[in-house]
Amino acid sequence: MTEKFEPRIVAFFCNWCTYTAADLAGVSRLKYAPNVRVIRVMCSGRVDPQFVLDAFARGADGVLLGGCHPGDCHYAEGNYKTLRRMRMLERMLKGMGIYDGRFRLEWISGAEGDKVRAVVNEITEKVRALGPLDMPGKFKEWDKEIEELEAHINQGGPRKEKLHV
Ligand code: FES
Repeated sequence: MTEKFEPRIVAFFCNWCTYTAADLAGVSRLKYAPNVRVIRVMCSGRVDPQFVLDAFARGADGVLLGGCHPGDCHYAEGNYKTLRRMRMLERMLKGMGIYDGRFRLEWISGAEGDKVRAVVNEITEKVRALGPLDMPGKFKEWDKEIEELEAHINQGGPRKEKLHV
C-alpha cells in the first residue's frame, strides 16, 4: 500500500506582517493546509538564502517566505534586500532543477489573514502535484555517483564516454 504524499513546507514569516496575518487567520478560523511549519523571523531581510537551501537540504518539499509589503518594512528596507537576494536565489534554484513553484516569496500584511490562507493552500497544492523533492535522498545518490567516479579514476584513466570524443 502506498502512503499518500503530504508535502512538508517550511515558512519563514516576518513577525510584524505575515506572522501577524497567520495569527489573524487562526483567530478568524480561516482554515489552511496543516503542511506548513512556520518559523518566525523579525524581518524577511533576516532570511539568508542559505536558510532556504538548508530547509530543502533537510527534507522540505517547499519553502514559503512572507514579509511586509514594499514600503512597509519595520526596518526600512529589509524587504527590498529580501527581494534582491531571493531573485538571485531563484536563479540558483532553477540551475539546481528545483525552482518550479517549490519556492515562493509573498508580501502579506498583518491584515491579510485571507491571503495567508490562499498562499499556503496554493503552495501546498502546487508542491503536492510536483511530488516529493527528497533532497536528502538525492545527496545519497550524488555521494554514490562521486564514490563510483572516484573509484573509476583510481582504477586508472578517464571515463570511457570521454574517450569517444
Ligand atoms: S519587518 Fe516585515 S519585512 Fe521587514
